[in-house]
Amino acid sequence: MLVSPKIFYKNCYGKYAIAAVNVFTMEQVHGLFRAGEKANAPFIVQMTPVARNYAHPEMLLAMISAATKIYPKATFAIHLDHGTEAHAFDAIASNQFNSVMIDASHDHFETNVQRTKAVVEKAHKYNVVVEAELGVLSGVEDDISVDEQHAKYTQPEEVVEFVNRTHCDSLAVAVGTSHGAYKFSGGQGIQFTILEEIQNRIPNFPIVLHGGSAVNVTEIDRINKSGGQLMAGAAGVDPNEIVKSIEYGVCKINIATDTRLLWTRVHREFFKDSPDLFDPIIPGQTYIEEQEKFILEKFDLFGATGKA
Ligand code: G3H
Ligand code: 13P
Ligand code: NA
Ligand code: ZN
Repeated sequence: MLVSPKIFYKNCYGKYAIAAVNVFTMEQVHGLFRAGEKANAPFIVQMTPVARNYAHPEMLLAMISAATKIYPKATFAIHLDHGTEAHAFDAIASNQFNSVMIDASHDHFETNVQRTKAVVEKAHKYNVVVEAELGVLSGVEDDISVDEQHAKYTQPEEVVEFVNRTHCDSLAVAVGTSHGAYKFSGGQGIQFTILEEIQNRIPNFPIVLHGGSAVNVTEIDRINKSGGQLMAGAAGVDPNEIVKSIEYGVCKINIATDTRLLWTRVHREFFKDSPDLFDPIIPGQTYIEEQEKFILEKFDLFGATGKA
């Protein structure tokens, strides 16, 4: 059943978090919906514009629409991840998304407010909720000063004005995480002092954590043992920090990298172990099962199992 993230966040705030999983392929859609149904956990299926264009926006939506029939007990929202105005308006017009992100976080505060506000005005007319982002999420590099590092984090003193002026429904923040498999090159994990200050200023307002992948070292090892050359220093978010962030109002945790690593591991191992085979179905089947298992573990970690 399609449910608004607004309802998810109202139920989960401070208690558990909703996994927002990026999908690119049919196998990932199956694994996610299967896990959601099995765990009776609410979830968000999300896609970036890159993911939509890969298969074709119609194709990815058709797969999700099929999954809603194949897994009738799944409870989920359909979200556009990291959109521009054009992507968000297209998603709203498709009539299939109930949530979009406008990512104007790289713009100056005032421009971010104006761009976000325009998307919110349109989205709310169609009962679509909007996630916005304040602060620049990126790898905080070793070679920039502490002051510069700080400027990239969400400034807690800006959040009230941003939320009040834009009327966004949830806020993605930059508190130390980054996208990809090489997080925390110069930082020390999630900055809880900043997160707490944000929460104090916007109590009960849903906070979104991008860059939520754990980047399991075992997965990196297995990929490299089967021919991969991922760099030393691959690192993700400590699961204990993820759990702790939920108390600070984090309601939605985005995951993409972990599923990419999983896909890579399954396929590398399969083709290394079976060099005589050339069949997409066998590794595809394994990947669906592994994706389901991986998501079930995330639901448990986030406290979402049984909450749908
Ligand atoms: O932040 C989102 C994703 O990790 C990027 O995925 O390659 O589909 O843009 P993409
Ligand atoms: P990861 O790179 O940690 O999976 O982050 C995904 C994300 O934030 C998608 O928006
Ligand atoms: Na998002
Ligand atoms: Zn993101």
